[in-house]
Amino acid sequence: MLEIKNLFAGYGQTDTISNINLNVDKGETVSVLGANTAGKTTLLRTISGLTPRKRGSILFDGSELLDMEGKDIPALGIGHVPEGRHVFPKISVIDNLYLGAYSRQKDPEIKSRLEDIFELFPRLKERYHQLAGTLSGGEQQMVAIGRALMGKPQLLLLDEPSHGLAPIVVDEVHCAIEKIAATGVAVLLVEQNAALALQVAKRGFVLSSGSIVIKGTSSELAENPDVKKAYLGA
Ligand SMILES: Nc1ncnc2c1ncn2[C@@H]1O[C@H](COP(=O)(O)OP(=O)(O)O)[C@@H](O)[C@H]1O
Ligand SMILES: [Mg+2]
Repeated sequence: MLEIKNLFAGYGQTDTISNINLNVDKGETVSVLGANTAGKTTLLRTISGLTPRKRGSILFDGSELLDMEGKDIPALGIGHVPEGRHVFPKISVIDNLYLGAYSRQKDPEIKSRLEDIFELFPRLKERYHQLAGTLSGGEQQMVAIGRALMGKPQLLLLDEPSHGLAPIVVDEVHCAIEKIAATGVAVLLVEQNAALALQVAKRGFVLSSGSIVIKGTSSELAENPDVKKAYLGA
């Protein structure tokens, strides 16, 4: 579904991420771990066409994304839940969700997608008309995920969905990600919370200073002494 080869990207002269090789199969959940400033957000933003690409290849479902503009990428089936959620604070929950469907405004399935999102996050249905800026952090994360799902993605890019949330809410978000994955959507999950990412994903990559330094199944990563030391607090 997603195949990244020898990808370099970054701002100005510098390569923020370099020589990235990574793939995600249809319906698979894959994690990207790494410390603060490792380049995790840049990687997701590069896939979505929001960071300048230098060279390499990003194949998605047979299409080369490298020269495509960010505005054209959601319609291909890539949903992006940005770091820090970025909900629109002064409009309602429902209007935030509809914004996620801008590339599919004529899609007759929009109403049923909304129902699916409310089934996944019943709390959003209760708060339908509430301004998104007045929601809790966890609820805003649900809006951000719901908004991305409105675009009917085949691949969902999730940038630190658990960041700053209370443990009980982290469990809720984690459970929602598993439910989304169970519907056949592929997930590329970026987390600083490595323990969480390894529970949700089957495989993962570790990014350090913009390069992939370790990859493996989640159980291999969990046993890896470097991963344990750097990311699992062992
Ligand atoms: N818009 C930008 N302009 C210039 N440098 C940036 C920009 N965004 C991020 N960077 C730099 O790229 C590096 C990687 O950042 P980022 O991808 O946000 O890492 P992470 O998500 O792993 O914390 C950092 O050194 C950061 O300062
Ligand atoms: Mg980040």
